[in-house]
Amino acid sequence: MRVYLDNAATTPIREEVIQAMLPMMRDNFGNPSSIHADGRKVRAAIEQARRTVANSLNASIGEIFFTSGGTEANNMALKCSVRDLGVQRIITSPLEHHCILHTVEALKAAYQIELVFVKLTTKGYVDYDHLTELLEDQSKKTLVSLMHANNEVGLLLDMQRVAQLCDENNALFHSDTVQTMSHFPIDVSTTNIHFLSGAAHKFHGPKGIGFIYIDGDNQLKPFIDGGSQERNMRGGTENVYGIVGMAKALELAIEELEESKAYISGLRTYLATQLTTHFDDIHFHSDLEQESLYTVLSVCFPPSPKSEMLLLNLDILGISASGGSACSSGSDVGSHVITALKGDPSRKTVRFSFSHFNTKEEIDFVIEKLKTIIPAKDLVEA
Ligand SMILES: Cc1ncc(COP(=O)(O)O)c(C=O)c1O
Repeated sequence: MRVYLDNAATTPIREEVIQAMLPMMRDNFGNPSSIHADGRKVRAAIEQARRTVANSLNASIGEIFFTSGGTEANNMALKCSVRDLGVQRIITSPLEHHCILHTVEALKAAYQIELVFVKLTTKGYVDYDHLTELLEDQSKKTLVSLMHANNEVGLLLDMQRVAQLCDENNALFHSDTVQTMSHFPIDVSTTNIHFLSGAAHKFHGPKGIGFIYIDGDNQLKPFIDGGSQERNMRGGTENVYGIVGMAKALELAIEELEESKAYISGLRTYLATQLTTHFDDIHFHSDLEQESLYTVLSVCFPPSPKSEMLLLNLDILGISASGGSACSSGSDVGSHVITALKGDPSRKTVRFSFSHFNTKEEIDFVIEKLKTIIPAKDLVEA
């Protein structure tokens, strides 16, 4: 048996998505920019996919641009805001994904923009009072970039509150929604947000395809110069299969959102309860008391000789989980998120992340295997 609990890193592609992509690979090979029938057919499929993505956010189709994934969408939002919209100050948090943190550092070096990190509460939430204080200084055009849910621990941002604060203080607002897209409803018609990002492989779509939502009032210049694809914003022949597959995956996920949320939340609670029932001194970086990203459970295991190699041992025993984000797992650099949350370095953090494909039996399997790695209560007492 092999159990996959690393769905925050990437998810398996759904069969329905593969079926939607296959005709675009086999038969519909025309270049969408060609004006003949073969091209027009593919162009229509791309525009239909754009409509699906736009509808899922209550956006207009002109506000959706396809990208190669979440990293590109986030780069585009940050870099184009500085280059084209006169942003001179970026407010962000130390818990962001590296594609935000490395980009803002690069912008600071290249454009001398002011980079400000908002304070966090002890649990790791954005300190909204500090954010308000920062935003009240309107001397520089400001962009706030804060992720909707943290990919390592699942803490949620009050997006509505931040959107309102930005609106009141004339700031632009970008949210990295890569982990929450399709897991939480997002409505841009009622949230004053300027940029959002999505990546298909996080919701059972293909890899290498994503999108950015850009509020229609913000006129950006091309991010990739070349042909006139994506209304001149991103030159290059489109990833047609990816676009069609992403739209199918998003459509299905939105249809099933409530059902999946209830099911996956149940699995997450079950794992948390089983862990505390069977093992001593288990802590969670995830917040189980407040609404949070229900696909992620970040567990902090007590120090023990075998827990040093916990992830490797789990892998050998048939369980795929992660130490943090996929980008930092496998390296011994440690997680910048856990460090920012002041996690105890002598303890091991494992991120278990779920999808609707996981089962309760798989969680039981994980608990049984964990008992062979770290001391379980029942074994200790016996
Ligand atoms: C919060 C967050 N942002 C951005 C990304 C990057 O997305 P992609 O892998 O599609 O470039 C990820 C992926 O791990 C993520 O979790």
